Amino acid sequence: MPVEGAIEWRKRAGKISNLEEEIAARPLPPTSVAIGHTRWATHGAPTDQNSHPHVAGRVAIVHNGIIENHDQLRAELGEVEFASETDSEVAAHLMLREVESGKGLVDAMRAVVAKLEGAFTLVAVDAQDPDRIVAARRNSPLVVGVGSNEYFLASDVAAFIAYTRDAIELGQDQIVELTRDGVNVTTFDGAPAETKSFHVDWDLEAAQKQGFDWYMRKEIFEQPKAVSDTLLGRLNDKGELQLDELRMSPELLRRVNKIVIVACGTAFYAGLVAKYAIEHWTRIPCEVELASEFRYRDPIIDPMTLVVTISQSGETADTLMAIRHAREQHAKVIAICNTNGATIPRESDAVIYTHAGPEIGVASTKGFTTQLVACYLLGLYLAQVRGMKYGDEIAALLAELERMPEAIQKMLDAKSTVYDLAEELVDATSVLFLGRHVGYPSALEGALKLKELAYIHAEGFAAGELKHGPIALISQDLPVFVVVPPKGRDQLRDKVISNIAEVRARGARTIVLAEADDEEARAVTDTLIELPKVSTLLQPMVAIIPLQLFACELATVKGHDVDQPRNLAKSVTVE
Ligand code: G6P
Repeated sequence: MPVEGAIEWRKRAGKISNLEEEIAARPLPPTSVAIGHTRWATHGAPTDQNSHPHVAGRVAIVHNGIIENHDQLRAELGEVEFASETDSEVAAHLMLREVESGKGLVDAMRAVVAKLEGAFTLVAVDAQDPDRIVAARRNSPLVVGVGSNEYFLASDVAAFIAYTRDAIELGQDQIVELTRDGVNVTTFDGAPAETKSFHVDWDLEAAQKQGFDWYMRKEIFEQPKAVSDTLLGRLNDKGELQLDELRMSPELLRRVNKIVIVACGTAFYAGLVAKYAIEHWTRIPCEVELASEFRYRDPIIDPMTLVVTISQSGETADTLMAIRHAREQHAKVIAICNTNGATIPRESDAVIYTHAGPEIGVASTKGFTTQLVACYLLGLYLAQVRGMKYGDEIAALLAELERMPEAIQKMLDAKSTVYDLAEELVDATSVLFLGRHVGYPSALEGALKLKELAYIHAEGFAAGELKHGPIALISQDLPVFVVVPPKGRDQLRDKVISNIAEVRARGARTIVLAEADDEEARAVTDTLIELPKVSTLLQPMVAIIPLQLFACELATVKGHDVDQPRNLAKSVTVE
């Protein structure tokens, strides 16, 4: 039964359980229309008042994103009394003003979004029109879930996957209206909008923990499958590499004279690894750039530049803005993404999907290894279409990629060494990670995992840079993880082994990731983590596993919430 005439709401800062307690103490009346939002505060402290929904008279809204001109809008609203310090609340008062002037909820939304600058998904209800929900999106995600006799609106399909796997994509600058009669989508200008329905190919069970204590740990252990799923179906009848979703002609890829990889966080480190592989295999110059820096630097890109963006969620605002900038300069954009129907693949010229399944843990794990696979596939595909490698060379590398799930499984099976280490190092206040060549991004990613989850100072360095500064940080018993390149890359490997000896001589505790038969590495090691034999460029796929396990276990032993680390969000949809 819809509630007529008034909005009822409950909101609490902190964990969802706080809200559950509040609702148990003060139950909400039955209704068939409701909105809610878990919000990472961008304006104002994380308090009850600043949490969502924001209610203004008969109207309530939830908002994801940032309203950049909220100060100016507050001033325009004059006498209105604000209950929070948020940017979002202005949208509630603007909506109220519009519905009070006699507009229906859709027209009111259209009038409000015309005033807003920035990024927003807005969802609104009006107590005097209780059978309708209206939402709008600009630069922020929104999908519609279509159930039987019910509809859902969410940033991500994971939110409603327990109820339906059928969904509708919404485009940029669109308004959606949900009523008993159905879904109606229009543009901000009021024109009917084309929509695309899709079916989600994973289910609720895939999104649950399956007996693991944390989603993150489950996702670490899913990597052999995630990697093999990402490799599935990539060869044609002739055994050549084909990337089905890559809607980009070989002619176009032959003309490319520069590649720029753009991403954030873990995806950026996958991009750093990709640079080594792509340049080596294709001889095309390849730059890697943080998405948040990219467009502010006025990068040199033109129609011959191939921009590759990497994003697990496909919704990271910094990456999205970088894509828009690149396309304005007429560069072609390929997205590597794990989320079907997300904004980033939709706004790119082509996409290579990773098939990791839903990644729920905030710290990315299977996202990273599958991004590496997609980068390797792209590098090999470019080498193939540009004739930079013979077919048998590509086949040999693909065969090695096919063996990676087994190699990753070996690393997972050896988890106890890493878990013991986490117990021992529970009181460490600082941990360093060193690597060279592709071991360098592995070191950076290992350090990032530890910062994100264990909240301790952790840094990754290029081992060769040690003597130029970081060696001053080495003190007695400081844990230092070092990734040693495979035997056979001896020049590189010898240098890393000398670096280990240097830090050990200064009292560091060395935790070395090296091949089992690497006796020289073993000789300078306090704890050895054995790596299977893989070729140098693919080594990050195995080296990262113990670093992920270490961060997950150390955070667990320290009593932290591994899946929801403080101050972090899984998908950062604001710049
Ligand atoms: C956030 C997450 C990171 C992630 C980054 C990029 O900062 O906390 O784990 O690596 O976003 O996310 P994306 O979805 O674009 O890969």
